[in-house]
Amino acid sequence: MALLETHGLTKRFGGLLAVNRVSLSVHQGEILGLVGPNGAGKTVFLNCIAGMLRPDDGRVSFQGADTTGATAERMCHQGLARTFQMPQPFPRMTALDTVLVAAQFGAPGNGMAPRELARRCLVEVAFPHPETTLVSGLNTVELKRLDLARALASRPKLLLLDELAAGLMTGQLGPLMDIIRRVRDSGVTIIMVEHVMPTIMGLCDRLAVLRQGEKIADGPTREVARDPVVIEAYLGERHKPDATSH
Ligand SMILES: Nc1ncnc2c1ncn2[C@@H]1O[C@H](COP(=O)(O)OP(=O)(O)O)[C@@H](O)[C@H]1O
Ligand SMILES: [Mg+2]
Repeated sequence: MALLETHGLTKRFGGLLAVNRVSLSVHQGEILGLVGPNGAGKTVFLNCIAGMLRPDDGRVSFQGADTTGATAERMCHQGLARTFQMPQPFPRMTALDTVLVAAQFGAPGNGMAPRELARRCLVEVAFPHPETTLVSGLNTVELKRLDLARALASRPKLLLLDELAAGLMTGQLGPLMDIIRRVRDSGVTIIMVEHVMPTIMGLCDRLAVLRQGEKIADGPTREVARDPVVIEAYLGERHKPDATSH
């Protein structure tokens, strides 16, 4: 059974079909890459399954139960967490308190004290500053790390990552990939929206490709990455094999 499934998921903004009849399954233990050009509907899709946006049509099921239109709070309690493309935590909170809130209000836990769990999550993401650091002093990359710790502290079964690697230097990609792999190995299933190719190729078991709200491909990463339709739609001319030889 799929951990999460969508059938014909659709979200409109006025005349714009941001997500157009997308059917997708995510299986326990996999890392699914959700890719596509800017504006393809990736973030809106995540928002629809995480309860932040109500889909106009179609169904979502999570762990076998219909969760279409469920609130973000309910999805979080059921074990779905997400990071944000642009995290916006409270600037005057400390890093620890930001993660602690999620540890206190996330999915029911295994009895570990929230503070202990929050500290572990900061360690798990290799947060580079003392836990008392104020959020207002963090740069974008550090905010994304903190956002990942926050998401992990809610004890997800399914984790949605929205462009976590964006803005990282090449040397920072490997350590981030190790963190994501460890999260998966701890039993968390992952959907990651990503543009950074080495991260996609190195981590994702499977890729689903969106273009203008529609799913145009879905399959094993290497096969999808070779699909000419995908290359044309997503990677553009400059990534075609012939164009990379100079
Ligand atoms: N709240 C909104 N209101 C109106 N249009 C939106 C809203 N959110 C996203 N869109 C539009 O929906 C489309 C898909 O956006 P998005 O999912 O953010 O794309 P991406 O694949 O880059 O994450 C874009 O055309 C975007 O402008
Ligand atoms: Mg987006």
